[in-house]
Amino acid sequence: MKLVDNKATLTFSNGSPSVELPVYGGSIGPDVIDIRKLYAQTGMFTYDPGFLSTASCQSAITYIDGDKGELLYRGYPIEQLATHCDYLDVCFLLLNGELPDEKQRTDFHKLVTNHTMVNEQMQFFLRGFRRDAHPMAVLTGLVGGLSAFYHDSTDINNPQHREIAAIRLIAKMPTLVAMAYKYGVGQPYMYPRNELSYAGNFLRMMFGVPCEDYKVNPVLERALDRIFILHADHEQNASTSTVRLCGSSGTNPFAAIAAGVACLWGPAHGGANEACLNMLEDIQRNGGVAKVGEFMEKVKDKNSGVKLMGFGHRVYKNYDPRAKLMQETCNEVLEELGLGNDPLFKLAKQLEKIALEDDYFVQRKLYPNVDFYSGIVQRAIGIPVNLFTGIFALARTVGWIAQLNEMISDPEYKIGRPRQLFTGSPRRDVPGVKK
Ligand code: ACO
Repeated sequence: MKLVDNKATLTFSNGSPSVELPVYGGSIGPDVIDIRKLYAQTGMFTYDPGFLSTASCQSAITYIDGDKGELLYRGYPIEQLATHCDYLDVCFLLLNGELPDEKQRTDFHKLVTNHTMVNEQMQFFLRGFRRDAHPMAVLTGLVGGLSAFYHDSTDINNPQHREIAAIRLIAKMPTLVAMAYKYGVGQPYMYPRNELSYAGNFLRMMFGVPCEDYKVNPVLERALDRIFILHADHEQNASTSTVRLCGSSGTNPFAAIAAGVACLWGPAHGGANEACLNMLEDIQRNGGVAKVGEFMEKVKDKNSGVKLMGFGHRVYKNYDPRAKLMQETCNEVLEELGLGNDPLFKLAKQLEKIALEDDYFVQRKLYPNVDFYSGIVQRAIGIPVNLFTGIFALARTVGWIAQLNEMISDPEYKIGRPRQLFTGSPRRDVPGVKK
């Protein structure tokens, strides 16, 4: 962190002495006021529920400019990465800071590919779940369960353990997600095939069956790879902050990532793609495009509790750049599968058109986020709606690990421990206790 030629002065109207606070600058983006010594100097905390103005760490991984609608992984624009790299290149970049050269690329692909199988015992663990369990419930358990199988990579303070855990998690997530799916539909698990790409292998583990060969469709393979790239990291969002906070206690990497999976499940975060598709299906059932206007009135009515899922973002106050790329992929996939007239896609386009022109959305700067179109793409590929968030977790695993490892290597890292403004009862005695 660099001190900038600026200082903040905090003054109090009650006459308490004012304090000077250092200001640090990053490479781009807003400067930060360092309040670490504030409590020692004033006896006061800051109050910022939801972290609206608080940087919880320094990070060199992902940068978002929400007003411009810009997303950079290690400095590279998401649009360039999505069109010129594959997901494993992006994983290498997020973990190591640079894109791989040719040799590094070959070695990294080989390394990940060689860890795709999971301990055979995992499937017996999986059998403990009901067949109709939500895949995110299953995944939270399976990812946390990895720490019970891979004892040689659970010491978060050991850089080698962290490196092996990273590769294992990236390599095994597709296998676990596909196993959770196969278990739910009662089909045999498909073991990974090392000659396939990361996305191709996942498609085969999901949709292949042992009784016949599976041919990977290159359009769907590319689409899935793009979904993975677009979801790979997104700086200090709820699940990433959860992983950092969980890992800050020194817990093992598998447990910290399982915490991220659990957090991602919520409909305000990774669960939004599932919620968005359910919303589109609901509107379609109730009259489709003709009922869009009526639905939008409900969205704008604060008492209805209805939100336009897939719209709005804490950081983006402009088009989410990932949504544009996802819309492109959506067109490609629907065309490839002959679903150009898909009613849900038409419905989504109509909702988007109305929302982008409506005062309610314009004034609040609400634009489509990545989840608005990713659900339609996944549904077209054949992925069941309740597995959408699992796919997101698979893709985000690398971001969580990169952020966790960055935190552990940061000499300024401490266990996370927020403070509070206490509003409960002051000390009192239980009735009958003699003073
Ligand atoms: N539909 C209708 N109104 C909305 C929506 C929406 N999708 N999103 C925000 N608003 C309104 C709020 O009601 C609020 O209005 P007000 O100022 O009149 O009270 C205003 O816009 C600001 O919204 P906040 O809720 O304060 O914004 P916040 O940053 O807290 O929330 C969030 C962001 C959670 C993403 C929100 O926009 C939302 O719930 N969207 C729908 C769910 C979704 O798509 N989530 C995916 C996020 S992206 C991801 O995780 C990959």
